[in-house]
Amino acid sequence: MSRNPFAGADTPELTALSSDFLETTGANLLTRWDAHQDFWDARLAAGLDPYMRSSAERIGPETVALTRGHERIAGVNFASQDYLSLASHPHVCAAATEAVARWGVHSAGSLALQGGSVPLTLLEDRLAELLCCDEVTVFPTGWAAGYGTVKALVRENDHIVLDIVSHACLQEAAANSTKNIHRVPNCSHAAVASRLARIRERAPDAGILVITEGLFSMDSTVPDLRAMQEICHAYEATLMVDVAHDFGAMCDGGLGFIGDQGLLGEIDIVMGSFSKTFASNGGFVATNARGIKLAFRSFSNPLTFSNALSPVQAATVNAALDIIRSREGAERRRRLMHNIIRLREGLAARAFNVLGQPSAIVPVWLGPVAQARRMTRTALSMGALVNLVEHPAVSRQNSRWRLQVMADHTPDQVDRVIAIAVAAREATGTDLPTDADQPATPLGE
Ligand SMILES: Cc1ncc(COP(=O)(O)O)c(C=O)c1O
Repeated sequence: MSRNPFAGADTPELTALSSDFLETTGANLLTRWDAHQDFWDARLAAGLDPYMRSSAERIGPETVALTRGHERIAGVNFASQDYLSLASHPHVCAAATEAVARWGVHSAGSLALQGGSVPLTLLEDRLAELLCCDEVTVFPTGWAAGYGTVKALVRENDHIVLDIVSHACLQEAAANSTKNIHRVPNCSHAAVASRLARIRERAPDAGILVITEGLFSMDSTVPDLRAMQEICHAYEATLMVDVAHDFGAMCDGGLGFIGDQGLLGEIDIVMGSFSKTFASNGGFVATNARGIKLAFRSFSNPLTFSNALSPVQAATVNAALDIIRSREGAERRRRLMHNIIRLREGLAARAFNVLGQPSAIVPVWLGPVAQARRMTRTALSMGALVNLVEHPAVSRQNSRWRLQVMADHTPDQVDRVIAIAVAAREATGTDLPTDADQPATPLGE
């Protein structure tokens, strides 16, 4: 008898991909989505749509989530981006409440016009000082910061050298800026160097933007940023580093891997998001290059033509920054790292393939989508709130859970998610991939 109780039952809900429906044609743009809707409704009915959940309670290490079908799932929460557990922190909530009383709830304009506010200007100044940069611009979201920076800087004849697993805001901006895009393997500064040499030979006068991240969230990998910056300078290329996942949460002082590698003030362009650690929407760009801030005002459409971060959001981020830079912040990062190590070691000891290096994101490789979807359904039903990442965010055979760890998780909660992962694997009879199954291409591709 098969070890797998679901063997032989590989239905479209288990094996079809959302992207299978993208090529649907027909004159009516609205009805093209009917088959796609049917696919997701079938997945929902089978308990295989783990997406678009909403929170029925405050964000915290345990919570109640509601599925798209309004089913309640109570459980340990490894699916929220709140690395230092600041989303419900009393100092942060009080600052937001005070900001509402003082400034109201709305910025009522783009930063290019009159959408700035006292808390927002204060935030820009504080980030500039912290990152040792002359100028910081706060954007409405991290997505807007990433997209808006690439679009503002790069012209049609310029070149972009892009890490293959860069975030979608960077990939999409690159695709909309130039045809000269060079994708390089994850974290490979050797590949960046050889690309730059070739580009410079052919295009001595072209601008070149090299894009990487401080911490890649799909694989939890970290590049050698110093080597990247030196290589860029050697070829008169500009380096842009997205620090969405490490700034605030990782390394001494919350300064992320730029701080850890002694590079404060030395990276050409630092871009980040507040949405993982700073308890708010919003993003920023920091640089020492003269002229970029006003260039954004005129030529970065997600800034120019989008409403600025509200004073409440800016005050929230300022309050989060108070904690991040305090002794309490250091203690929270210590607890976060303790939880990360406990989770990674606990899963590895039970033969799970945990990717990358210790960070607030713990990617657990599950393999092909069918078994990943079954595992996720079972884990959710057992009370573990986890996020499934499947194609197109990662390649077909490389589905994974991206467990997101918080400072406020207790050892018991960490142990519970490990126990549920083991139980879900056993209940579904899943054979997880091993190192021998590693594809030749990077996992995140
Ligand atoms: C690496 C990276 N950059 C940018 C963003 C976008 O940030 P935000 O959520 O603030 O739009 C994200 C969030 O998913 C991210 O992971």
